[in-house]
Amino acid sequence: MSKADLIVGLQWGDEGKGKIVDHMAQTHDYVCRFAGGHNAGHTIVIGETKYALHLIPSGVLNPKAKNIVGNGVVLSPKDFIKEMQQFDNLEGRLFLSDKAHVLLPYHAQIDQARERMKGDKAIGTTGKGIGPAYGDKIARIGHRLGEILNPQKLTSKIVDYFAMNKPVFDAMGVEMPIESELLAELEGYKAVLAPFITDTTQMMWDIMDEDKKILLEGAQGTMLDIDHGTYPYVTSSTTVSAGACSGLGINPKDIGKVTGIAKAYCTRVGNGPFPSEDLGEEGAKLRKNGHEFGTTTGRPRRCGWFDAVAMRHAVRVNGVDQVALMKLDVLDGFDEVKVCVAYEVDGKEINYVPYDLEDATPVYQSFPGWDKTEGVRDFEILPVTAKTYILALEAMIGTKIGIISTSPEREDTIIR
Ligand code: GDP
Ligand code: IMO
Ligand code: MG
Repeated sequence: MSKADLIVGLQWGDEGKGKIVDHMAQTHDYVCRFAGGHNAGHTIVIGETKYALHLIPSGVLNPKAKNIVGNGVVLSPKDFIKEMQQFDNLEGRLFLSDKAHVLLPYHAQIDQARERMKGDKAIGTTGKGIGPAYGDKIARIGHRLGEILNPQKLTSKIVDYFAMNKPVFDAMGVEMPIESELLAELEGYKAVLAPFITDTTQMMWDIMDEDKKILLEGAQGTMLDIDHGTYPYVTSSTTVSAGACSGLGINPKDIGKVTGIAKAYCTRVGNGPFPSEDLGEEGAKLRKNGHEFGTTTGRPRRCGWFDAVAMRHAVRVNGVDQVALMKLDVLDGFDEVKVCVAYEVDGKEINYVPYDLEDATPVYQSFPGWDKTEGVRDFEILPVTAKTYILALEAMIGTKIGIISTSPEREDTIIR
């Protein structure tokens, strides 16, 4: 019986999970998404072609890998169908959980209305409806993907849901779908998605029993986790490795090697605390060199330095066996590279992530920079100062940095 290897984001998302999942998918039979929705944007570059995947697992680019979307995700049929259109022959290699929750256009309207109402306290969500869809799931008023196989029944449930919420929805400007149009829309979704909807929990158990090689693809990052991130400036799902169990119906003993993905610096999209953010010229240089603009929304990402305190927190929460350090090349050409080694809160230095990171200011250690690491594929030929930086990070986080990435390309990857 096989165990499933797991990929998880260790920072605020966009660490480069897509590249590593794609890299590892070459040697795995199945790639499985367990949380999030189309708020995620996983970029994969193969030769001249760049793919942006939102909910389809990144294994789709390996014709031999099969792909599972687990019960822990929220799935917008409209957006999912659009994403599917990039690929041929998905039948037989894409499987969607009948227990995944359905995200419908009104969830996005509610998300955007709530953000508007929050004004300068807005979370800076992707506006895709993720919070309201997970909110409905937890409040036990959501709808599962299996239900779209009976559009008539689901239409009447949604009509009842709107009747129940009418005063709130009216206040937020959320439009009630017209019943006949809703039915036609759901029938359209059924026509495309029905062949893919199945009991993926049973499937996970079967493929483990068959000793298949399985890779679990996390979305977002640890600091965006609903419990362990910078609440309320987080997403609405369990993004950490424990989410893979509930999001796919497997148990903790089924998890094999955990690879945590982290940039060699740090970024965040949206609002909320980010102690090592650099609002000056160096942050701007990181954004420019790293092309730090969101895959999903195109928003400029906030940029700053590697945060070793948040990283230790993430390594422990996720049970990380090895770290993949991404985008080392983006630090090429800096005279000095900084690392946040502690926080100062109320005049006291602390070395853990407190309940509220809002008032934490960074304590930095500086390292000499280097000229060029871009495209390097062998650890030994990295500049000495880059090696020193990597070994120092390894010591600070107490975990092996087993993978180093030096460009978006699949092959520009050092395995140590
Ligand atoms: P994900 O959400 O974690 O999959 O990450 P994103 O795809 O949103 O953002 C990572 C971006 O960095 C993408 O544009 C990748 O192509 C790019 N990328 C990944 N690894 C590297 C690297 O080592 N160097 C550089 N320069 N870019 C990288
Ligand atoms: P990947 O998988 C980076 C952020 C949003 C916002 C917060 C809540 O590509 O790493 P939401 O729409 O989820 O309610 O927004 O979470 N966010 C991400 N940031 N990468 C992501 O995914 C993200 N998914 C959500 O910017 O701050
Ligand atoms: Mg992304």
